[in-house]
Amino acid sequence: MTDQIPAGEPPLGSLSCPEPEDRPDLWPTTARRTDDGELVLGGLTVSEILAEAPSPVFVLDEADLRGRAASWAAAMHEEFWPSYGMAGGEAFYAGKAFLTTKVAQWVLEEGMGIDTASRGELAVSLAALQEVSGEEATTDATRLGLHGNGKTQAEIAVALTHHVGHLVLDSLEEVELAVRAVRELRASGVYGPEETGKVMVRLTTGVHAGGHEYISTGHEDQKFGLSVHGGAARQTIDAIIAAPELELHGLHSHIGSQILDLAGFREAVGIVLTLRHEVAVDTGHLCPEVDLGGGYGIAYTGADPVPPSPAQVARTLAEAVRETCERLGDEVPTVSIEPGRAVAGPTTVTLYTVTGLKRVELGEGASRLYVSIDGGMSDNIRPALYEAAYTALVANRRPDPQAGLVRSRVVGKHCESGDVVVRDVDLPADLAVGDVLAVPATGAYGRSMASNYNLFTRPGVRWVCEGESGWVLRPETIEDLVRLEG
Ligand code: LLP
Repeated sequence: MTDQIPAGEPPLGSLSCPEPEDRPDLWPTTARRTDDGELVLGGLTVSEILAEAPSPVFVLDEADLRGRAASWAAAMHEEFWPSYGMAGGEAFYAGKAFLTTKVAQWVLEEGMGIDTASRGELAVSLAALQEVSGEEATTDATRLGLHGNGKTQAEIAVALTHHVGHLVLDSLEEVELAVRAVRELRASGVYGPEETGKVMVRLTTGVHAGGHEYISTGHEDQKFGLSVHGGAARQTIDAIIAAPELELHGLHSHIGSQILDLAGFREAVGIVLTLRHEVAVDTGHLCPEVDLGGGYGIAYTGADPVPPSPAQVARTLAEAVRETCERLGDEVPTVSIEPGRAVAGPTTVTLYTVTGLKRVELGEGASRLYVSIDGGMSDNIRPALYEAAYTALVANRRPDPQAGLVRSRVVGKHCESGDVVVRDVDLPADLAVGDVLAVPATGAYGRSMASNYNLFTRPGVRWVCEGESGWVLRPETIEDLVRLEG
């Protein structure tokens, strides 16, 4: 067997997946190896987990998710604590990363609100809020938000009916729809005769940050938000202030996703607070809240830097807000953020079983091992969609160091050559069919973006905690695939 790697690629061993003890930020907090070398998550070995759950499966460390949610909530509360001259801070979990009723309950219990991007996410969050805080909380759902471009009047009306804390309008047309919705709610008696709808405005600041173009949202030539520099934001803000049915609660900015350098957030703070100041000077209305969106990056492979902690993020934002408000002579606003990936991403590992091995000769003695697994682009579309990099560890045994390594590509079983889960990883040369691979950091935008392509059933999500486990989401069955057929 040759172990020559293809020309131009980094040396063998440099692309190995870090063990949990070497890069804890990449793995759920409870990840470790047993003395026998098996990976343990939430107190259960991989074989114990797979005895209850069919492979492939997303394994979600409940304690880790709760801990991350609590850290984000605490960081915002502490850094924006009113007695430090601040006006309060909140963290909303961006449910698009991964949302079920249970996950929504966990994050609410740990002190986060929830930012939703659709009627479905809002409905699930309302159900969780009812479980956690009682029925009455759903008529005053200040801990929830609703986003989205091209919202319909019906969607806006649902948010207004439940008094969500952050209803973020995305166009001038949506202002008109919100006005109409409030009039109808007043007419039907859901709202009092003078009651107003509390709304925010989504801005595009021109700050360009983040990973792939598809997940970068602060620049102006795109579908989200209203341009600060082009004047659309101001026009929309003025329309809201002029409407007796509405109350302009705040300004919102989301500059992009998978951002590891905080400079872009500081820049956005300056732009958003300057607009808030200008609006106050011209109209007398100083928005009480500013929402700085999500986008805080995580590590996916050993090549990624350790991301900033929630406390570092909150401190950076608090400093920028304090300095800018001092310079402008404005009262500080309440500040909220919407991390999704940084809450859910590292909490979850996908376990796959190796189903096939193929050595592909690349000429001049070089070769690559193609490792087929029992999942693929239907449970993780991110490599195909964003060229996202992942890594993989042999999880059912500790690899024998004597066996050596082989440059590998982990591929799914779909009918597409772009069906790659891990593009480059050095795996043990004695890898065998039946071995279990663990791919870390799949908790955000993994199961939530899964599909039934090639009529694959979508994997389940298994929670693990202190040696116990259960389903967050059951795995689909073939019956589920045909259930909706007409
Ligand atoms: N708030 C707003 C308004 C957003 O649009 C997003 C993400 C977030 C918060 C949460 O961003 P996070 O903290 O998770 O980065 N499917 C892509 C990510 C799309 C994100 C869209 N908006 C991916 O897999 O990378």
